[in-house]
Amino acid sequence: MSSLMASPAMAMRKLGPCFISSTPAIGSAISMPLLMLQSRNASTKTSASTIEGGNESDEKLPAADGSRKDNKGIASYWGVSTPKIKNADGTEWKWSCFKPGDTYSSNLSIDLKKHHVPITWGDKLALWTVKSLRLPTDIFFKKRYGCRAMMLETVAAVPGMVGGLLLHCKSLRRFEQSGGWIRALLEEAENERMHLMTFMEVSQPKWYERALVFAVQGLFFNAYFIAYLASPKLAHRMVGYLEEEAIYSYTQFLKELDQGNIENAPAPAIAIDYWRLSPNATLRDVVMVVRADEAHHRDVNHFASDIHAQGHQLRELPAPVGYH
Ligand SMILES: [Fe+2]
Ligand SMILES: [Fe+2]
Repeated sequence: MSSLMASPAMAMRKLGPCFISSTPAIGSAISMPLLMLQSRNASTKTSASTIEGGNESDEKLPAADGSRKDNKGIASYWGVSTPKIKNADGTEWKWSCFKPGDTYSSNLSIDLKKHHVPITWGDKLALWTVKSLRLPTDIFFKKRYGCRAMMLETVAAVPGMVGGLLLHCKSLRRFEQSGGWIRALLEEAENERMHLMTFMEVSQPKWYERALVFAVQGLFFNAYFIAYLASPKLAHRMVGYLEEEAIYSYTQFLKELDQGNIENAPAPAIAIDYWRLSPNATLRDVVMVVRADEAHHRDVNHFASDIHAQGHQLRELPAPVGYH
């Protein structure tokens, strides 16, 4: 390693003929584009033969001038085929946004009352930041829990993606494993996004709510990105408390449903398939499984924060991948 670093010329010789050409420099400059063109043509011909053997409707594609020509030798990447998935009863799986392997039955027995008692100044800062964010959301949404859930899920899906992205980059930078934490955080982000996909079937955002989401996402993504870079311990603790607040909000949602103030409509089809609910499931069943999801996210984030608090790196402890 050190000798390679010390002498780049020697290092190139050690790497062998694949990396050293006897062609003069100007020859290399000309031959590289030619090589690339040849390799591209080879790839094109291979692809074209696949097209010929495939769907006939793909054989004639529009040319740049709008006319249709014989496409022998022209590659098309349009419509990369994906295998058709069947349900157990032989009918076709109707969702392209998730696969049967992504579905699960939620663990509803999870403790919903668990609370991380703030000990350090960082914990207190995280808790009071979250508590102070609750006030404006209460004022804005009042008791419109369907709308509130939809809007807050647009924010809830950000931390997992930011944390996963930063851990991914760290893994690349430092040539080290992540302990499964990249996957665990991205799973959380995807799960939160599925909450949004579900609630947007129940409530449609108005134009000013879309504008608000646009602005809040810009602010929150960047703020959380910086917070995670500065202190992943604080960032995860904050998300842990956000999830505790989400559990409380969904409990209030259930109370409104039980009191008849919100119609207990049939569950959206996407929710029935994602959480493997019964075909007769209602909105109440959906809120129950979403609330259980939030409790799982709470545990994952407080756990991540505790790992940092005890002076460890996340990768040192196996991540709770698939924790539902
Ligand atoms: Fe959520
Ligand atoms: Fe959540």
